[in-house]
Amino acid sequence: MNRHLPDIGTKAATLAGRRVLYTGAAGGLGHRTTLDMLEAGAEVFALDRDHTKNLSLLEDTPEDLASLLHLLEMDLADTKALEAKLAEITADKPLDVVINNAAIYPSKPFEEFSLDEHRAVHAVNVEAALICTKAALPGMRAQGWGRVINITSITLTGGWENLAPYVQSKGALMGLTRAWAREFGKWGITVNAIAPGAFPTDAEKIHPDPEGYTRFVLDHQALKRRGDPQDIAAAILFLASDGAGFITGQSLAVDGGWNMN
Ligand SMILES: NC(=O)c1ccc[n+]([C@@H]2O[C@H](COP(=O)([O-])OP(=O)(O)OC[C@H]3O[C@@H](n4cnc5c(N)ncnc54)[C@H](O)[C@@H]3O)[C@@H](O)[C@H]2O)c1
Repeated sequence: MNRHLPDIGTKAATLAGRRVLYTGAAGGLGHRTTLDMLEAGAEVFALDRDHTKNLSLLEDTPEDLASLLHLLEMDLADTKALEAKLAEITADKPLDVVINNAAIYPSKPFEEFSLDEHRAVHAVNVEAALICTKAALPGMRAQGWGRVINITSITLTGGWENLAPYVQSKGALMGLTRAWAREFGKWGITVNAIAPGAFPTDAEKIHPDPEGYTRFVLDHQALKRRGDPQDIAAAILFLASDGAGFITGQSLAVDGGWNMN
């Protein structure tokens, strides 16, 4: 274990018995978090449309935790199918935690994006989060406990250009984080955002100069190592835990000290 990384294993059982809906769970950041949540005792409804990544998540799940993992291989843009699946999941038992993490991030100059392309990003990055949160709300409210965690991005506060629809979608998610926090607080439900910095996942692999890019990232961070999916997992596990019960409406930057608020 890298001594700079949080040792989540020792905090096992912080999510024992919790039912978690996690969108984009098989992705670069989601994969690690899903495994850590299973280890922490959560039952995870891991929703992702990518068959190969889903298989890899399944393969990496320890046998004794496999019964806690429910892979939902579906497209968040298919609103009807999503609503039907959520109704099925919440029919008998509430969801305790919703993590709105799935995102698409097309990149090109603003002028080249059509309105339909903007809408397609909004559908996955924002509307799906609305649908998932709305489906979980009655159960959370009835039990007086709930956690909603929205994954935003460092790009909302600085950095990269040519990501207009994506940045727009993350701004919408941050607005919803605050609006939902105000509205749901009276029911014991917290709503927070996590803003990841620059993590070396698939999106970065297309960069033409990986070494130069790493130098650029480290120059901007206070901490001189690259982020690891485990850093995001640790933040998510904390915000989902009982211990974070007095924190709501906030954005937690997990970016090695790039942006400081
Ligand atoms: N990796 C980074 O450096 C970074 C930086 C800032 C913010 N983020 C945010 O963190 C979150 C996770 O990012 P990541 O790096 O793991 O990205 P990723 O692309 O590896 O994972 C996203 C997952 O969402 C899934 N997905 C996308 N569209 C979907 C749809 N329509 N239906 C179902 N599943 C769908 C993908 O299949 C993928 O597995 C995203 O919200 C992203 O914006 C990541």
